[in-house]
Amino acid sequence: MKMNVIGKPLTRVDGRSKVTGKARYAADFNQPGQLYAVLVSATVGLGRLTGIESADVEGMSGVVALITHRNAPKLAYLPHKAVIDPAVGERLHVLQDDSVRFYGQPVAIIVADSIDHAERAAAAMRITYDARQPIVDHADQQVARIVPGTGTADRSRGDADAAVAEAAVKVDEVYDIARENHNPMEPHATIAAWHGDRLTLWSKSQFLMNEQAEIAAVFGLPVDNVEVICPFIGGAFGTSLRTWPHVTLAALAARHVGWPVKLVLTRKQMFFTTGHRPRSLQRVALGATPDGKITGVIHEGTGETSRYEQFTEALTAVTDYLYSCPNVRTQYRLAQLDTATPNHMRGPGEASGIFALESAMDELSYKLGVDPIELRRRNEPQIDEAENKPFSSRSLIQCYGLGAERFGWVRRTPEPRSMRDGRLLIGMGTATATYPAFHAPSSARVRLLADGTAEVEAAASDMGPGTYTSMTQVAAEFLGLQPEQVRFGLGTTDYPPTPSHGGSWTMASVGSAIRAACLEVQSQATRQAIADAGSPVFEASIEALEWVDGRLRRRGDASPGLSYQDILAKTGNPIEVDGSAQRDPETAEKYSMHSFGAVFAEVSVDPDVGTIRVRRLVGAYGIGRVVNPLLARSQCTGGMIGGIGMALMERTVLDVRDGRPVNAHMADYLMPVNLDTPELEALFVDEVDPHVNPLGVKGLGEIALVGTAPAIANAVFHATGKRVRTLPIKIEDVLTA
Ligand code: MOS
Repeated sequence: MKMNVIGKPLTRVDGRSKVTGKARYAADFNQPGQLYAVLVSATVGLGRLTGIESADVEGMSGVVALITHRNAPKLAYLPHKAVIDPAVGERLHVLQDDSVRFYGQPVAIIVADSIDHAERAAAAMRITYDARQPIVDHADQQVARIVPGTGTADRSRGDADAAVAEAAVKVDEVYDIARENHNPMEPHATIAAWHGDRLTLWSKSQFLMNEQAEIAAVFGLPVDNVEVICPFIGGAFGTSLRTWPHVTLAALAARHVGWPVKLVLTRKQMFFTTGHRPRSLQRVALGATPDGKITGVIHEGTGETSRYEQFTEALTAVTDYLYSCPNVRTQYRLAQLDTATPNHMRGPGEASGIFALESAMDELSYKLGVDPIELRRRNEPQIDEAENKPFSSRSLIQCYGLGAERFGWVRRTPEPRSMRDGRLLIGMGTATATYPAFHAPSSARVRLLADGTAEVEAAASDMGPGTYTSMTQVAAEFLGLQPEQVRFGLGTTDYPPTPSHGGSWTMASVGSAIRAACLEVQSQATRQAIADAGSPVFEASIEALEWVDGRLRRRGDASPGLSYQDILAKTGNPIEVDGSAQRDPETAEKYSMHSFGAVFAEVSVDPDVGTIRVRRLVGAYGIGRVVNPLLARSQCTGGMIGGIGMALMERTVLDVRDGRPVNAHMADYLMPVNLDTPELEALFVDEVDPHVNPLGVKGLGEIALVGTAPAIANAVFHATGKRVRTLPIKIEDVLTA
């Protein structure tokens, strides 16, 4: 289908409001009479509160209230089934009893007339505990209870163990990826205001419908009594997919004091209760014939969860379908720890799982003496062998071709430590990227006004990918308008429901709903024109008419035809349509739907001091239709930067004595800055996928991070001859013999 607006490199429609400071984030919505809340966080990792010295604190200047489990109201905490269930189990009931389940758990709130007064009082709080030893070390399998993940089945085809055991060439290794925290620029923030039994939350959220339903369930309110507003997000990467305890606490405090309350988490508190990428331990074993045909694959992974909930992610899922092999066994387990519940972070599951698989593939390529790209070619499947279904589209080999050419893979000499730039060792590595092409039911509203412009609304979020812009393009495309004639609104639960803004499914889901609503608006406009005795198309048959560039005319007619304005002039009324869309279940049953990509990394390593620098990254992706190449490139380079962080910098270190994150601040939790970020290039293969959805989009976001860390690790091996199987890769890893 020929597209006029989709596919164009439109600059961000919200760019001006962001750079001029007009864009308002959760903490910007100050309310009249607003008070300030500060959380007091537990300083032990497990146990009970035995004493709270509050007398002095309550008398301190500006303090309005001190709320602990002793005076907090009992909350309803009704069961809540979200559009997607964030975790299985019973969520943290905050301030409901004296127990401490993890280090940093909120144990009190101070409400005061200023942040300074609230912080001063919080610092003066004296809390005593009966503390026990928490179990926070995943690797200590003597003490960490390992359980199967709910809803995640072990998968097996053929006999992988026998195939690996008998293979002529094999790799069998263990990979360890550190716990990481999302660390977006914008901290979590909520302003809560009650009007009787109605609650408004201005709150940082990637999933407004979930926050609305969760807070309604916690307070025992009808869902419609809660409104959530979040027009802008300053980065999130998954941390705002769930409704964390601080949102409950802001609402609880506001009700307690009878005034609106603002609560902004500190950077340190964002390491406590707002999710993290769980540490993972994985074993990957590959068996192959001497000419590089994979005969057996074993992938066993353990992630982490809390004691009170089960968080699962698709740690081993990529291994089921990525390569052709008759004997594959995958297994996923969870270590139950005395920490807060983890959650999705930047390509959750896939990013960790593929590091293990693609590191092992690289190891296998050296053992075989086969080029890493050639190894992938020799094991390219014709179908998804786990599901026994064709792929809706799969461009992995094209991605390797395109990426290799742009990267200059031919210049690579295969031998480790064989390339140098002056005294620096140079390494080139590559790895596969993949992510499911998800799609969830969504709705959207389109209102075509009598002046011929349109208003489009959906309760989505925009954490940075450019949802405002891309959805404007979709609406303009299917109404036949210019983007300037469309105003797209998101960020309130007053708009039609959408799924979470995550899982790379926003364009597929919300975009398809907008398309459906636009097509219905257009068809209603057609019917109005046909019914209008004064119109040149009066009583024409629908088949005899066509819309060209937003104008209705008789098929083949050279006349300019009718604009929306012309048609709506008759009544002066807008046309308003609530549209919805979901993936066709039959198509979903028939095809395996995933995006694929190939990532290429060049690193330099200083042989004397071990400094690792990423010099170049090239990613080539097959993601179906690209809605906006400018935004798509920006998404990809952002994901690659996250991948550099995962490969070389990011890790949250817990003190095993009490579960305290010892580097809960930006000085010691390292993230890539400009100097760590080299030339980044994102390419897209021409890919038409007629099956995924009517827009032909497979989703972009997560896949840009997936594959980056193994490409870098493989380049580090090529540079140094040192295979590092732990992330992040540290200087000492490449220096020690
Ligand atoms: Mo993404 S981890 O689904 O925000």
